Amino acid sequence: MENNNLQPRDGFSSKLGIIAAAAGSAIGLGNIWKFPYITGRYGGAAFILFYLFCIAIIGLPVMLSEFLIGRRAQKNAIDSFKTLKPNSPWYLTGWLGFVAAVVILSFYGVVAGWTLHYVFLSIANKFVGNTPDQLGAMFGGLVGNPWLPIFWQVIFMGLTAGVILGGVKDGIERYTKILMPLLLVVILILDVRAVTLPGASAGLNFLFKPDFSKLTAEGMMSALGHAFFSLSLGMGTMITYGSYIGKKENLGETALQVTIADTAIALLAGIAIFPAVFAFGVEPGAGPSLVFITLPNVFNQMPGGYIFAIMFFLLLAVAALTSSVSILEVIVAYFTENLGWSRHKATWLATIAITAVGAFESLTNGTINFKLPLYKGGIMHMFGFFDWMIEMSDLLLPIGGLFISLFVGYVMLDKDVKDEVSDSGALSVPWYGLFKILTRYVAPVLIVVTFINMVFGIF
Ligand code: PFF
Repeated sequence: MENNNLQPRDGFSSKLGIIAAAAGSAIGLGNIWKFPYITGRYGGAAFILFYLFCIAIIGLPVMLSEFLIGRRAQKNAIDSFKTLKPNSPWYLTGWLGFVAAVVILSFYGVVAGWTLHYVFLSIANKFVGNTPDQLGAMFGGLVGNPWLPIFWQVIFMGLTAGVILGGVKDGIERYTKILMPLLLVVILILDVRAVTLPGASAGLNFLFKPDFSKLTAEGMMSALGHAFFSLSLGMGTMITYGSYIGKKENLGETALQVTIADTAIALLAGIAIFPAVFAFGVEPGAGPSLVFITLPNVFNQMPGGYIFAIMFFLLLAVAALTSSVSILEVIVAYFTENLGWSRHKATWLATIAITAVGAFESLTNGTINFKLPLYKGGIMHMFGFFDWMIEMSDLLLPIGGLFISLFVGYVMLDKDVKDEVSDSGALSVPWYGLFKILTRYVAPVLIVVTFINMVFGIF
């Protein structure tokens, strides 16, 4: 193992492995399922521009911050803060991430379960001959069914646990290296079909012609939250992965490559979906069902659609898996390192508990429906619980990111930060001053302003 870590920790074995695992974490349902539906909900191009702004100005420096915290401390997300700033409350940032990990993984497993069901539907050739409305009803039938989504969710969470039990190098690194590039190829083929559909231009206009009057405070908050979600930031995933990165790797370059790959896949997914949304008359603001209704229409309209459908949903499930393992790893790393639990015990206990929470959320998509107080000042029907958990992650991750940014900007010793990003002076880092300005001022201020704006509706 080419890993010079001071402690005998499991770690990534190669440069490509690091990028594949970190990009594998970043690229997932967020890019292909969530990004298109929130883009549709919040009005298209202007939302995307604000999202890209958040990625570049906040996401990239926070990713580098997470990597350097983890690699410096050689610990899980919670203990990293304890190591770098002992006897201070900063470790609560790690705990916040822990809570976010539970929230996210609970709904993530449900949506990933839907994709497994769609693999099954594609193999059984169920899309063919259906109108867009019928394909919509097919999705409604799945999520409204009490047991079917839970069945697939349990399978997906079992797979996640299985990969985590394999450990970092053999479990996580091996799959991502091959399957992520394949996903890119399938999406590119879908793009070609989508942009050549009759009526595709309306979708492309929606994606690329900004109308800033459509950008709302809620949309801006969602774009910020999604920048964190999509890059796997704000909850310690990249701190945990940073702790597995060898001392000689260039962290700044790695963060940049992962950010570019993640953003490219999201935009390419948008290009595959929106022309089809408009061509088939699907409602852009359809929400979480958008991808599942739109793409089967595209598969029906292309030669080889049968095969592409299977490949697409299978690869989407794999992309989801390489993300879900990174979320579970945050929790398992803490249980094993801090509480001394075996990897087995930690993995299974966390998986079972989170699957149970997710199963409950899944049931609120149609089966159970009762009232819960304290939601947006009124009463929330449980029907909205699933959506609410997703919104929660849009709040929790930027708060985590705010503290991570402040920690690197003000709390860590400047020489330690510089030492990490420059690999002890081996790399020249002319951008270091800019990085410090971003972590000290720009990212924290933008996060706080976006929050205040959401609450008071200033812009
Ligand atoms: N980035 C993943 C996605 O876009 O699907 C989801 C995710 C993974 C969010 C890890 C947060 C995280 F820490």
